[in-house]
Amino acid sequence: MSETSSPVIDRIRRRLDEVIDPELRLPITQIGMVGDISVDEGGAAEVQVKLTIEACPMRSRIVQDVTAAAVRAEGVTTAEVDLHVMSPEERAALKEQLRAGGGKTNPFSQPDSLTKVYAVASGKGGVGKSSVTVNLACALAEQGLKVGVVDADVHGFSVPGLMGITAKPTRLDEMILPPVAYGVKTISIGMFVDGNQAVAWRGPMLHRAVEQFLNDVYFGDIDVLLLDLPPGTGDIAISVAQLLPDSELLVVTTPQAAAADIAERAGALSTQTEQKVAGVIENMGPMTMPDGSVLELFGSGGGQVVADRLSKQLGAEVPLLGSVPLDTGLRQAGDDGAPVAVSSPGSPAGSALRSIAAELAARGRGLSGRSLPLSV
Ligand SMILES: Nc1ncnc2c1ncn2[C@@H]1O[C@H](COP(=O)(O)OP(=O)(O)O)[C@@H](O)[C@H]1O
Ligand SMILES: [Mg+2]
Repeated sequence: MSETSSPVIDRIRRRLDEVIDPELRLPITQIGMVGDISVDEGGAAEVQVKLTIEACPMRSRIVQDVTAAAVRAEGVTTAEVDLHVMSPEERAALKEQLRAGGGKTNPFSQPDSLTKVYAVASGKGGVGKSSVTVNLACALAEQGLKVGVVDADVHGFSVPGLMGITAKPTRLDEMILPPVAYGVKTISIGMFVDGNQAVAWRGPMLHRAVEQFLNDVYFGDIDVLLLDLPPGTGDIAISVAQLLPDSELLVVTTPQAAAADIAERAGALSTQTEQKVAGVIENMGPMTMPDGSVLELFGSGGGQVVADRLSKQLGAEVPLLGSVPLDTGLRQAGDDGAPVAVSSPGSPAGSALRSIAAELAARGRGLSGRSLPLSV
């Protein structure tokens, strides 16, 4: 004989409150994933788990986590998971619940959104924009913030590789659940194309892709959203500014004078789009060699020059947030899919990126710094 309601079943439910769905990042008990629970006299428990979709890539992880949690409940000797799939009605209810909890259409453009949105921009490619984006994201997540990344460099996507993500996003009908790596919810066009296939899209398609990332991807209530923009001031940068009018730019530059000129143009994008420039990040800066000498492969001082010139041009203080030195460890970590800021936090580049992240984290979330609409 088995029961369906008893103190031991309550204890199991409390244990299951601690099991977080790996994609939705919510307790499985709160999103309708736990069905009936029974326990026989010998303490053998059976827990019914309802997956969101049949082909859930996380099923073995969920089974493992549920089993482990259930046997931790007092009075349980063994636990089995009875796997089911949500009915269309249950799935619709879940989607409704997610939308109400911040999953509405382009939630970041809502006036009451508390998510800080940073678009990482540069005048030209290869200055380390993507590396900076993923490292800041991972460092912010490690500091306890809820973080999302949108790889908006549709043609030159590189975020999945840098974060070591091979998982495909799960679809809940039109809702897309982003893979999570290093605690960061991440979406990239690279997750939808096979292998290294090129994405040969033009303006309107690019706009639509970015729009879909913002509308259909479930990020939940995140503190920070980082967008890795393509280099320059093209269509996507403008689309992002239109779709996310409160996004602020983080301008990445190398220390070179020529690069600084180009970075400045990227910053000037903000005049056109009326975006705020949150700060400048110098990358590939002076590197201290083992003998103590300093190698300035790409010169020095460019970050400060860009920050000063942008401050003047925009009439508002644009700070230099930091200089990330050239560091082979950063490149290696990127190739390994393990961002240096979390895989090698004490390294020169790792620690520089972490302190920039700490500075951004200190700005917190909220509406501060945002221009409020004037009422007449
Ligand atoms: N501080 C750094 N030290 C060493 N290598 C770096 C540094 N920043 C970036 N790189 C390397 O430079 C290349 C370009 O960086 P990436 O982040 O892809 O630039 P972008 O997104 O601006 O095109 C990558 O191979 C990356 O590993
Ligand atoms: Mg890039």
